[in-house]
Amino acid sequence: MSGSVPGADPGVPEQICVRVELATRGYEVLVGPGVRSEIAGRVPKGARRATVVTQASIGVEVDPGVPFQVMRIPDGERAKSLATVEEICRFMARGDMHRSDVVVAVGGGVVTDVAGYAASSYHRGTAVINVPTTLLGQVDAAIGGKTGVNLPEGKNLVGSFWQPLAVFCDTETLQSLPEREWRSGHGEMAKYAFLGVDDLDSLSLVEQVARCVECKAEIVASDEREGGRRMILNYGHTLAHALEAAGFAGEDASSPLPGLRHGEAVGVGLVFAAELAQLMGRIGPPRLERHRRVVAGYGLPVSLPAGADPATLVRFMSRDKKSAGGLTFMLDGPAGVEPVHEVRPELVHEALDAIRGDR
Ligand SMILES: NC(=O)c1ccc[n+]([C@@H]2O[C@H](COP(=O)([O-])OP(=O)(O)OC[C@H]3O[C@@H](n4cnc5c(N)ncnc54)[C@H](O)[C@@H]3O)[C@@H](O)[C@H]2O)c1
Ligand SMILES: [Zn+2]
Repeated sequence: MSGSVPGADPGVPEQICVRVELATRGYEVLVGPGVRSEIAGRVPKGARRATVVTQASIGVEVDPGVPFQVMRIPDGERAKSLATVEEICRFMARGDMHRSDVVVAVGGGVVTDVAGYAASSYHRGTAVINVPTTLLGQVDAAIGGKTGVNLPEGKNLVGSFWQPLAVFCDTETLQSLPEREWRSGHGEMAKYAFLGVDDLDSLSLVEQVARCVECKAEIVASDEREGGRRMILNYGHTLAHALEAAGFAGEDASSPLPGLRHGEAVGVGLVFAAELAQLMGRIGPPRLERHRRVVAGYGLPVSLPAGADPATLVRFMSRDKKSAGGLTFMLDGPAGVEPVHEVRPELVHEALDAIRGDR
């Protein structure tokens, strides 16, 4: 459900409010330029102080309306660790933060994931407000309540479901976003194009973000703890995760090319999933073509990076946490994207062959 923010001045740039309706508690996602100026109004009445968690490279200032301290965590996936959670919690303890106070996470998915997890365990659960400052964060990571950190053994292995109090997708903050991070966010946007959000092209940035948020909100509301339907948000991700695990991931914005940013890997993963769906007779050539067009239209890669070995990728894909034995993929079809189990490895190899970069 979405609508204009009550009282919004029609003369000022648009703001859109999307509600995430959960069984126990709903919350609002505000989208638009400058919406972060409304954070103070959403801080819980009993909060006496706040801790803002962010990164040095993110020059986004916020005012929670109560005394606050700022903690800057390091950049990159490596900062998404239990060590960072400990540092954040200790910082909060030294700052005399209590359970009734509030954490404000200002950053991309790394910040909102790790700060959200710290908040979920500090004093057994402290409120968190998300201010996502990457496109990927605004359309995906900051919404839906999944928080967590990585272990040396794997990504996102430790975490919790901890829904934010509110989310402020301030599109103004994206002005400083490096080009590769835009592309990465577009990888997730391309995913939503096949989950029911079409013709994003004709919309303003604010509307584009809001439509994706709306789509994610609806899916999360229908399956808050990923018992089933929420898995479709992983469309394009099975191959993407395998590419990341096989060493094709670019660490972060500052890392030298040619690593793939997450959304870029998702782009390749979407085209692969469409090839596979076509081989299985679930979709026809026009739908496959549409996948290629949408992904390429965002400047995202549509084929495997040089040196990607199909056997290695299949091995990683069969370890993907969505597979309950055999190979499971989210695949497009007559009823839309849905989980498909026990996919034959020969077909997977054939689909990988169809997206080889050297063809
Ligand atoms: N919880 C979820 O549901 C969920 C969903 C998708 C992704 N994720 C997680 O999100 C993470 C990826 O998030 P990401 O793509 O936002 O990466 P990120 O958080 O690493 O941010 C990318 C880079 O952009 C910089 N940055 C952020 N905002 C900026 C701004 N406004 N201007 C300039 N630079 C800015 C960051 O400092 C960083 O260097 C992954 O760890 C992934 O697992 C979580
Ligand atoms: Zn993703």
